[in-house]
Amino acid sequence: MPRFPAGFRFGTSTAAYQIEGAVSSDGKGPSIWDTFTAKPGAVVDGSSGSQACDHYHRHSEDVALMAGLGVDAYRFSLAWTRIQPSGQGRPSPKGLAFYDRLIDELLEHGINPMVTLYHWDLPQALEDDGGWLNRATIDRFAEYAAIVGDRYGDRVEHWVPVNEPNVATLFGYCIGNHAPGRAMMFDGIPVAHHLLLAHGRAAIALRESVRGRIPSIGCANNHAPMWPASDDEADVGATKLFDALWNGMFIEPMLLGRYPVDIAPLLEDVVQEGDMTTIRQPLDFYGINYYNPMRVAATDEDAEMPFELVPVLGYPLTDFGWPVVPDALRELLVMTRARYRAALPPVMITESGCAYDTGPDEHGVVDDQDRIDYLDSHLRALASAIERGVDVRGYYTWSLLDNFEWAEGYTQRFGLVHTDFETQRRTPKRSYEWYRQLIAAQGERV
Ligand code: NOJ
Repeated sequence: MPRFPAGFRFGTSTAAYQIEGAVSSDGKGPSIWDTFTAKPGAVVDGSSGSQACDHYHRHSEDVALMAGLGVDAYRFSLAWTRIQPSGQGRPSPKGLAFYDRLIDELLEHGINPMVTLYHWDLPQALEDDGGWLNRATIDRFAEYAAIVGDRYGDRVEHWVPVNEPNVATLFGYCIGNHAPGRAMMFDGIPVAHHLLLAHGRAAIALRESVRGRIPSIGCANNHAPMWPASDDEADVGATKLFDALWNGMFIEPMLLGRYPVDIAPLLEDVVQEGDMTTIRQPLDFYGINYYNPMRVAATDEDAEMPFELVPVLGYPLTDFGWPVVPDALRELLVMTRARYRAALPPVMITESGCAYDTGPDEHGVVDDQDRIDYLDSHLRALASAIERGVDVRGYYTWSLLDNFEWAEGYTQRFGLVHTDFETQRRTPKRSYEWYRQLIAAQGERV
């Protein structure tokens, strides 16, 4: 395995709703994921995050697992409704205290926190007022950002205002397979603009509220190289459009302060004076969540959407059915650098990982060789992108623990640590040991 540059951060990543459980403990308010998961058929196994990994009560054990792994960073999210149960007003002392404990424990073990403010668990009270379709939600988010910046800013190294605004928009409001479950198709697109504004407003609020250090603020945008299904003009055109919706609609406003030409007309009536300047905040790092490339084909004239995703052929698949294409990570990084040049800040891989359903054998060993191969090949692809001049500063593997995988419930296991959801027993997998050795072999990096 190649050596990574001095200061390179190795970490793991999680999100509040996916691991914490305790969804109504200590005054926590309901989020759209509590409501959505209660709808029959919304989640494949009928489950919810109400227990998840019970991290709310087992955070010390989980921090100890990270300390054993030797990671120097951990990305997690704050549950907005632990801090403000209805998304506005005075913060809850118990909610604030939970993250104080977590952050302090991390720091005691030399693990640097990267805090995500919004990983999809919008307060239900705000959804009742229109959610991300309503611009007032952005004001609430900026207030929440100021509260957490003030409270935790002295101890938090990195900040991510919004996780994957593309997935939150397209799955949550266009297709409806994620909370809040609205299938508005193109009418859901204004949500993208509002989440981008939320990103910008939170960045401003964090810079104003953090005391004692200069906050490092970035993002965690999901990006996928888009491959046309064929050379046919229609497929190439459909790919360009889907690329603009999935990738361009988020990176271009953040880095360049404008929407890609192909989709700008969709947002004409939504963008107000000054918005693009608000969105384009200086970023200290550009976080990329990478999983796989996508292959796009044109559809028939009478189809609801002008594009469709078709299988990427010729690669192994994870148990989720996602193609394993490490070279596409290098392609993504090299292309992003070539396209945005000086506008691109240092990059962090804020998520990267794979789902394999490997459980303990009769000796209690979880032999997840597939995950080791995945991590090995992706880290090599990353190292080769660095060799080609892309400034990448960290890799946060998704995820520390098997957890609640949204609409897939508990059927997709992404963890370095196996979770028995009946007993809450954690069993480090072989990939955990592999990652531990990889980090140890890097020696002193800071
Ligand atoms: C990205 C999301 O941020 C995370 O919540 C999810 O579990 C992983 N992708 C895997 O699907």
